[in-house]
Amino acid sequence: MVEMWQLKPLLLLIVAVSLGALACTVAGDGGMPLVTPITKDSATSLYIVSAPVVENDQITNHLVLDLSGPIIWSTCPDGYVKLGCTSLACMHAHRFHPPNCPHTGYGKPRADNPRRCKCTAHPHNPVSGDTASDDMTEFTTTINATDGKNPVKEVSFVVATSCAPESLLAKLPENVVGVVGLARSAVALPAQIADTQKVAKKFALCLPSGGAAGVAIFGGGPLFLLPPERPDMMESLVGYTPLVKHGESPGYYISADRGIAVNQVQVPLDTPLVIGLSSTTPYTKLRPDVYRAIITAFDKATSGLARIKPAVAPFELCYDSTQLGSTRVGYAVPQIDLMLEGGKNWVVFGANSMAQVNDHTACLAFVEMKQEEAGYGGGGGGTQAPAMVIGGLQMEDNLLVFDEEKQRLGFSSLLLFRQTTCSNFNFTMAA
Ligand SMILES: *[C@@H]1O[C@H](CO)[C@@H](O)[C@H](O)[C@H]1NC(C)=O
Ligand SMILES: *[C@@H]1O[C@H](CO)[C@@H](O)[C@H](O)[C@H]1NC(C)=O
Repeated sequence: MVEMWQLKPLLLLIVAVSLGALACTVAGDGGMPLVTPITKDSATSLYIVSAPVVENDQITNHLVLDLSGPIIWSTCPDGYVKLGCTSLACMHAHRFHPPNCPHTGYGKPRADNPRRCKCTAHPHNPVSGDTASDDMTEFTTTINATDGKNPVKEVSFVVATSCAPESLLAKLPENVVGVVGLARSAVALPAQIADTQKVAKKFALCLPSGGAAGVAIFGGGPLFLLPPERPDMMESLVGYTPLVKHGESPGYYISADRGIAVNQVQVPLDTPLVIGLSSTTPYTKLRPDVYRAIITAFDKATSGLARIKPAVAPFELCYDSTQLGSTRVGYAVPQIDLMLEGGKNWVVFGANSMAQVNDHTACLAFVEMKQEEAGYGGGGGGTQAPAMVIGGLQMEDNLLVFDEEKQRLGFSSLLLFRQTTCSNFNFTMAA
């Protein structure tokens, strides 16, 4: 096992050197960041991007965004190109296999025809938890380049993806054909865009809270949101916190080295707390010990507010929303501070902490993690589950900058404070 791990970097190096010249020939035309709208599927609370498949008569694929996904996968048309197992993408893709799934090796290329040995990847559905094994392929897609204010021109490039059986689409929205992984892997979308466009390994994610589209920009800034006089949002973040590793997971993790406060009172918890981010989990999940401490603190801090009992599952603390005060940043409920490494707090206000479950009920939208959720995407490799996995609702209308070059996460806190939202990017093509 140890020898395998030592061998891999060497193999990768050899392949990287031999394919280096090839990679240069697929460079994009100008090194501009790329921009794409993000929509929210109301039935599943998943976030969706659309990518046209160029060879295929301009078919547009709808794909679910997965911050923890190391690859891009979709169902494949008949006659798709199979990547050979000597391809660089193959080696990267094959590194990611879920726990309890044996590492089967990439197989050996045939001496007479290296492309006859096909490359297998392990596409994973983050909602159903299912994993399949299927062929790596590649296709040409088109995304708009941006100056940070508008789309400026369409750019086409080749992406390496995994095929997947139709059955792997279970529990995903009906028109979706796959998943775009955004994780810290060489075959996730941010790295493939960085390689082909010669832009930074850095992307900004701004998830929408409602029907209007949010925005993602791959390759660095700037990022302007309407109204027009707003400054570059990437230059006006609250702060940065280092990205940390959690077991072998390719996902994004940060550390609350000073813990968590509710209503500006420290919650008694052992620090540092590892916090993951998941775009495929609608509500923040907390490890049972952390969940109990935070629920107790929030319960105490809201003892004066009118409750709805019994609470609406899966939540535990529900309030009569007709009695809650309203502010620019959502219901007037105690703020929750994630006191992150680097000295800045990610502050969660009512708009990000409360879920409106019916006309008169709003609940604290934190749920308890099940113990078995410590697996793929949440750690794995025997690592304890993270204290918290921040879910979609808690990220909406916050700008997050995932900067792999500097291994840090930039965060804006709630944009409503600045009188804008993630749905304020101007998607009209620049004149
Ligand atoms: C690029 O932006 C224009 C204007 O919003 C849009 O009509 C077009 O579909 C976009 N292209 C792609 C590939 O998304
Ligand atoms: C959006 O961008 C277009 C193209 O640059 C511009 O004409 C339009 O005024 C912008 N919209 C707003 C609301 O600023």
